[in-house]
Amino acid sequence: MPESACKPLIAARQAVVNFAVSGIEQVWKEGDGTLLEFAEGLGLLADFSCRSGHCGSCKRKLLAGKIIYQSEVTAETAGNEILLCCALPASVEGQETVTIKIEL
Ligand code: FES
Repeated sequence: MPESACKPLIAARQAVVNFAVSGIEQVWKEGDGTLLEFAEGLGLLADFSCRSGHCGSCKRKLLAGKIIYQSEVTAETAGNEILLCCALPASVEGQETVTIKIEL
């Protein structure tokens, strides 16, 4: 197994975030908060309740890219679903800016 396959994911410093349903694409930077906070800052309405990864209200599909969770989550997700309230774009080795696409 290549060494890079064992490296844990870490948060990106910068990411282009594409909100596919809204048609909005904006640059997220370290310090812009979770993807839920970032979406809200852009005026997007996303469902939420606990904001801590436990209820599943903020579940959305990740259509491209990778995320990490800034805290432990307990809500169940299936397939490519993510919990926006705890998610940050994940870094990709060799890429200064990563791209992710979310169904929102
Ligand atoms: S708001 Fe409850 S899991 Fe995200």
